Amino acid sequence: MSNLQVDENGRLRHFLSIEGLNRQILTDILDTAESFSGITDQHIKKVPLLRGRIIVNLFFESSTRTRTTFELAAKRLSADVLNININASATTKGETLLDTLRNLEAMHCDMFIVRHAESGSAHFIAQHAQPHIRVINAGDGRHSHPTQAMLDMLTIRRHKKDFSKLKVAIVGDILHSRVARSQIQALSILGTSEIRVVAPRTLLPAKVQSLGVHAYTDLKEGIRDADVIIMLRLQQERMQGALLPSSHEYFQLYGLTEEKLSCANKDVIIMHPGPINRGIEMDSQVADGPRSVVLQQVSNGIDVRMAVMSMAMGSINTAETTDPNAPNASKETR
Ligand code: CP
Repeated sequence: MSNLQVDENGRLRHFLSIEGLNRQILTDILDTAESFSGITDQHIKKVPLLRGRIIVNLFFESSTRTRTTFELAAKRLSADVLNININASATTKGETLLDTLRNLEAMHCDMFIVRHAESGSAHFIAQHAQPHIRVINAGDGRHSHPTQAMLDMLTIRRHKKDFSKLKVAIVGDILHSRVARSQIQALSILGTSEIRVVAPRTLLPAKVQSLGVHAYTDLKEGIRDADVIIMLRLQQERMQGALLPSSHEYFQLYGLTEEKLSCANKDVIIMHPGPINRGIEMDSQVADGPRSVVLQQVSNGIDVRMAVMSMAMGSINTAETTDPNAPNASKETR
């Protein structure tokens, strides 16, 4: 997959997975995202980097945060955006994924943002798309959600600076989570001191330690002295059979409350990719409390998605060129 993701000069071409990318590319994405952050405060929230480009949101699975922030990010880069309503598209009449792709190519589109229930679908599209087309994975099955992982890394870096000093605990449905898989890979590549996963035994993948993490089945032990706690949604739609006794019992054992949080570091930050199931993964006091950075994650998603799209389109190679005062910035953004 790595050859497909980077070109012969090591620059990002498609963004399909964290796996196979190196620390330099991940750091470039974070630095480039950082350089875009000021655009939010400008009167005209736009730079012309992708003017004239056509970006297609192809979401075969539901989404609120990812689809919307990709659209906002593309518009801030001055691209034209098509949102394909899959439920009202010819897919419902039996059109194959490849035929849909060929038709969008015939409309001279430049980039596909793909969310799909099947693992490997974004990779499949990247393999079969015309060479000039770029593909970004917006979440495929249980496999990968790389832009979510990068917006999470940006959020952590903004609060904690140095990954090499951090204990990060990821809590919840590790087994079904593409987010957890991508986060573990990104945290590991960025040199995080200690990565922990905390879950009932039935929601931990077999041989989870081979991912370079410490596994816990007790929440208080797993979050002890943690600097960052990432809570995950129970992915009921991916569960086959009874993996959990009940939502109530899950909350008693693994739901985050102020009382349980006292085991973590005082300045711990609480994250969740969303959507949150309140009263199952955490209570509202924690979700809306002073240590929660959940909504900052959503905002940071715009900067990260701008970074990934502009880098993949070759409009940008380094963080310096995204400076609104740089020569390629429009007059209205300076
Ligand atoms: N975090 C995330 O992927 O949320 P959505 O499903 O709303 O896009």
